Amino acid sequence: MKRIIEVEIKAGVVNFVECKTQMLVVGHFSDAKKLDAVNSELDKRLNGAIARVIKLGDFKGKEGTIAIIYSNGQIGAERVLLVGLGEQKKAAIDTVRKAAALAANKAVGMKVKTMAVSLHRAFGAKFDLGLAAQAIAEGLYYGSFRYDEYVTSDENGRADTLSVEVIDSDAAKVKRLESGLLKGAVIGKAQSYARMVASRPGNVINPPTLAQEAKKLAGRTSGLKCSVLDEKQMAKLGMGGILAVGSGSKTPPRFIIVRYTPRNKAARKLPTVALVGKAITFDSGGISIKPAQNMEQMKLDKTGGVAVLAAIKAAAEMKLPVNLYAIVPSAENMPSGTSYRPGDIVTTYSAKTVEIENTDAEGRMLLCDAIHYAVKQNCDIIIDIATLTGACMVALGTHKAGLMSNDDRLSRELEKAAETSGESVWALPCGDEYAEEMKSKIADLKNSGGRWGGACTAGAFLRQFIGGKKWAHLDIAGMDHLEKATEWSTAGASAFGVRLLITYLMNLVDKKTRK
Ligand code: BES
Ligand code: MN
Ligand code: ZN
Repeated sequence: MKRIIEVEIKAGVVNFVECKTQMLVVGHFSDAKKLDAVNSELDKRLNGAIARVIKLGDFKGKEGTIAIIYSNGQIGAERVLLVGLGEQKKAAIDTVRKAAALAANKAVGMKVKTMAVSLHRAFGAKFDLGLAAQAIAEGLYYGSFRYDEYVTSDENGRADTLSVEVIDSDAAKVKRLESGLLKGAVIGKAQSYARMVASRPGNVINPPTLAQEAKKLAGRTSGLKCSVLDEKQMAKLGMGGILAVGSGSKTPPRFIIVRYTPRNKAARKLPTVALVGKAITFDSGGISIKPAQNMEQMKLDKTGGVAVLAAIKAAAEMKLPVNLYAIVPSAENMPSGTSYRPGDIVTTYSAKTVEIENTDAEGRMLLCDAIHYAVKQNCDIIIDIATLTGACMVALGTHKAGLMSNDDRLSRELEKAAETSGESVWALPCGDEYAEEMKSKIADLKNSGGRWGGACTAGAFLRQFIGGKKWAHLDIAGMDHLEKATEWSTAGASAFGVRLLITYLMNLVDKKTRK
């Protein structure tokens, strides 16, 4: 089995001209009238090679494009990777992140093992240096990630290690870079962890093996404790929703709870947050079976659950002073003689009854039990994340996740976290008119609404279980993976939500502890 690439990132007081490295990474805006300080100094040393590649029109500085310039001993680096940053006025923190991702993606493909990054210099004082460094580290992990643990051929076309130094000649700046890089590396590693676990197929990750993975994670992370309910324990508690979904599979469902208890006393002032993630290890649709086309992608129906495991891992490693739960209800949705059926009436953990119209609307059936569990634990804020509806994909495409909430402030805070994290969300309604469509004639609720507004009716269904707590729901269908490789990343699981959730938590801590 191949191991995930090892990325090492540090900051150094180093001059970019002298820096000994296989690849020096710098940025250039498409609308720059002239070379910036870094690039013009390099250009001088390289006998005008940078100005030439731009003048010839081979490199225009567009986002997602690069030029490679080989030095001949004129500078310390063997080559310079010029990364296009697009238009200067459009630059956001995600521009920094993407530039680093692109550089790492190229480096790994070229088997370049040492890299010096000076990207932050192109942005001047536009971003806080710590935040820019954090984005650089996140991008480096993102771009270098490969999922190939089951590829047995030796010719894998990638480096096994990537060692990066983010450089500046100003020691005070390097200090600020350093603290941002540390945070970014924690988030980057969590992101890669999520992509790896999410990519594993249904014959490897099923509810019991996912539970084992969560236990392993908690065992090696200080501050985390994991407990797992099996099907008998769930039956005792009356968790009829998750049990119904899992009833068709040979691999039984598991209710995974990871708790993070910070040592820091500041946490007592903060609300307890529950992150609830859907973890269907494979969604065949059950008796209401899905068409064959693209069904293999339904191994990714666990990405919400995996994202919350990765987020709590990052929170613990950063020692964030906030009380946290990661609640991951996990089941495999399969058709068989023991499956739940359309027409069944299921009593959920909350005691509310649900008429099953469609066994493929399974996500809400286990999320409602998990949300009720969070309510019973008296969590103040509940955020769930789930590949919940194809309808959300129809509404928003593959660029933004759907955000539904019963609390405007929480909704705004998540929108703010989305801006910084580069994981975009768009608010959708889930009010009473949608809830009306989820009423059953013979039970309290039914599990699917009419033809229209499927993301909103699903959100409205979940809202019935939140018992007055502050709640937000992220529908990440369509965001769970990249269909095609981009300049920044290989195709496959994206770990969407990991950066968004941890950024939300970091902001929450910042705001409350500053008072
Ligand atoms: N996991 C799917 C949603 C999904 C679809 C995610 C495509 C990613 C890509 C979910 O369990 C599902 O099947 N939802 C149904 C709900 C319907 C039956 C009410 C859907 O969206 O069709
Ligand atoms: Mn389904
Ligand atoms: Zn599903």
